Formats: sequence, structure tokens, C-alpha cells
Amino acid sequence: IPVDPFDLVIFGGTGDLARRKILPGLFRRFCAGQMPEEAQIIGAARSEMDDDGYRQLVRDAIEEFGDKPVPEGGALDAFLARLGYVQVDATGTDGWEELSRRITEDRVRAFYFSVGPSLFGDLAERLHQYGMASGQSRIVVEKPFGHDLGTAKALNAVLAQHFDETQIYRIDHYLGKETVQNLMAVRFGNVLFEPLWNAQYVDHIQVTVAETVGVGGRGGYYDKSGAMRDMVQNHLMQLLCLIAMEPPAKFEPDSVRDEKLKVIRALEPVEPHHIVRGQYDATEKEPGYREDVEDPKSRTESFLAMKVHISNWRWAGTPFYLRTGKRLRARTSEIAVVFKDAPHSIFGAEAGRHRNVLIIRLQPNEGMTLDVTIKEPGPGGMRLVDVPLDMTFADALGPDADEVPDAYERLIMDVIRGNQTLFMRGDEVEAAWAWTDPIIAGWAARNDVPKTYDAGSAGPEDSLMLMHRDGRKWREIK
Ligand code: BG6
Repeated sequence: IPVDPFDLVIFGGTGDLARRKILPGLFRRFCAGQMPEEAQIIGAARSEMDDDGYRQLVRDAIEEFGDKPVPEGGALDAFLARLGYVQVDATGTDGWEELSRRITEDRVRAFYFSVGPSLFGDLAERLHQYGMASGQSRIVVEKPFGHDLGTAKALNAVLAQHFDETQIYRIDHYLGKETVQNLMAVRFGNVLFEPLWNAQYVDHIQVTVAETVGVGGRGGYYDKSGAMRDMVQNHLMQLLCLIAMEPPAKFEPDSVRDEKLKVIRALEPVEPHHIVRGQYDATEKEPGYREDVEDPKSRTESFLAMKVHISNWRWAGTPFYLRTGKRLRARTSEIAVVFKDAPHSIFGAEAGRHRNVLIIRLQPNEGMTLDVTIKEPGPGGMRLVDVPLDMTFADALGPDADEVPDAYERLIMDVIRGNQTLFMRGDEVEAAWAWTDPIIAGWAARNDVPKTYDAGSAGPEDSLMLMHRDGRKWREIK
């Protein structure tokens, strides 16, 4: 279904995110017939360039980062015809009159702040000053949303001077992933899981977001952030919220976000010995973390594993183990809900220990598996074995699974439609920082040094120990 005609201005329109994700994503939506002919996309940045120059830049970006082969039949030319460029100075006056002239009256206008947070305030101020902040205007802001609670509060305050909360779309691209939304469908669309989804039946939950890439090229940003600020405070926290929250009354922005907020506020402070930090080592071929960030003494973590408790009626006593890292064995993100043992085994001790595990694979090989216990076929008596009930999106949904929009595409279309359900509210972001700040401060106070781990491994040994000590085991990263 096409959205209504809109204007979209991308500040930082020549930057990395715009070229890799935003513009190829918009082109895919255009090809899918979701973008009306009258839509207008304006790149805005500091570089001197005219409309044609920008179209060429976007053509190159789509050829490099978009679907291959690029669809034929003039679709790309038709898309590029929707594009324009305005050179603006975010902190000065240049270009703003021109931008406001180009904006269409009386329709949705979205301003995507694909720039560092230090410019958010200036952009918001200028949009207001040049008459572009009111009515159907929306702003889209990228992470990192601040560096800690103080800076996040300051950002929220500066945006709130000119924009209402209903106009502010804080992106966490994990919420745009189909499989992440599927989490809510699985929990609240089935009668099967929800009655068991609590401390009485769930032994523990594992959330793994493992990457094979290092931080090469982004060292300057990453070394100031680390896995906690880059991944845990936002992406893993959002996953945790969707797994742990109470059923919202409706799939509507504030219903969902109120429930997520309650989870974050119920997080217990984390004991230092429930956290393992790591840094990847160099290999023969590739540099280690400290070389990547060009600081031989860096104490920033590229890996984090932690045991987290949620202090509420539903989850009291059930630990959530979170882990994420760069340069690990495989790129894999999954959630595993490990259920408790059956209360009594009628098959005796020799039948062994069997547990139901629900695994939701976020990427790759998107789908889910439920391990169930059955009788091992054959004459050897009542021997039990665990087998997977397995579903992949690709098999279950056939070729349509390929049509699934990428996270950014989905989220940008939600902005145009005015649906904030998959965006973070200001209080959520602040609550998340309020939980992570003391943990980070603790590392600094103790001069905590991350453990090194082999590139291509599952992280530091201590991370395995974090589980072993509790008589549990991480699922393999493969
Ligand atoms: C980004 C982080 O938000 O998410 C990156 O800044 C990380 O460090 C990326 O690599 C992971 O996203 P995805 O979609 O590849 O899982």
C-alpha cells in the first residue's frame, strides 16, 4: 500500500548511513510501489553539489550497496528524478532559506538527522527558525542518543524545545528487523507460550548478538563507546524488553513503550562479577582491537557478557544472560528461552535430563526452533531424545520471505505513516542510560581491564565461566 506523498530531508545525505542503508532502502520501497510519484527526497549536507551531482552519488550508492542486479526498466532513473540536494550549514545560515523554499506545504515532512548528536540541537533550532518544525513535520534521530544519562537528557531537552514527543522518532534499527517484531507475534499471537513465559517455567534466557566484523574504520567512535554503549544500552536492551515485558493492551505506540519502560526500570543493578568484558586479539592476518582503535592501552570492551535480573513478579529469580561482541566465530543473533525440567520424570534417572528450549533466530537463517523431547525410536526401552521442531521464514513463507523490507526501510515508512510503535520514547532511552551508567562508572573506578579473546572464538573464557558457575551453558555460536 503506497503511503501518502511526503517530503523527506536527509541531513548527512552524503554520509555513510545514507549511502549504505537509507537511500538503497528508499529505492527498494520505490520499486515495491510503496512510494508515490509525488514524493520528494532531499539530501542536505555541507558539500558543494547540485541536484545532478547528488543523483549521481545516490546512483553509485545504490549500485554499490543496493540489491543486485539493479532493477531494470528505468526504475532507478524514475527514483533519482524524485531526488534533490541542498547545501546547508547546520550551524550557520547558509542553505536554510533554500531548503524551506523546496519543502512542500501541507503534507508530511520528515527530517532525518543522519549526523552526529552534537548537531541535533542546531538542526532542531534551524528547522524551527525557518518555519519547518510545525504541523506535519517529524524528525528522525539516530543512535547514539547521548553518551550517558546526562547527555541523553540534554538531547531530549533540546529537541523538546521545538518538537513535541509525537514528532520525534528515535531509531533503534533492531526494532525494524522483521524477526524482532516477530518476537511480539510469537508471544502475543499464540496461546501456547504466554502461560509458560515466567519464572515458574523458564530456567533462564540467553540473548546473543555475535558479529564477525571488527571495529576497523570506526575505531574513533567505537573506542569511546564500547559494546555497552554501542549495543547493550540500545539493541540488546530493546530485545530484552520485548522478551520480558507484560502484554501491552494494544499494539500501539504508548501501550508498547509503557511496558518496555517498566522492564527497564525493573532491572537490578548488575554485580561486577556478573559481567565479563573482552577485547579481541590480533591474528596473523588481522589487527587486534587495540591496533584497530590505535590506542595500545585502550580499556574499551569489544565483547560483553552479563547476567541480568529483572525485579518483578514475572521474572523474580530467572536470569537473563546477554552477550555481544565483535570478531566472534560467526555472525549470529538469537534468543534462547530455556525452560525448566519437567517437575518429575516418570522415566527414571537413566532417561537423563531433557529440556524444552525455544530458539528465536534473529539473523541469519531467520526462524525459530522448539526443542521437544520424544522417545528415541527403536527397541532399546524408553530412551528419550531432544529433537527440533524447526521453522525458517524462507521455507515457511517461500519466495515472499525475500520481499521482507530491511529494518531501515520499514522504519522510514513508519515515520511517514506516523506510527511510533517501533521507535524509542525519550523516557525509555533515559531509563536505559540510568541503568548502564553506574555499571560503566564501576569499571572506571576499578580500573577494569577487559580480558583478551581470540578472534574467531566465542569470547573470553570467563564468559563461559559466567554460565558454568550457575550450572548452565551458552549455546554455541555457529
Ligand atoms: C550498530 C552498531 O548499531 O549495529 C554496530 O553501531 C553494529 O557496531 C550494528 O555492528 C549491528 O547491526 P546489524 O543489523 O548488522 O546486526
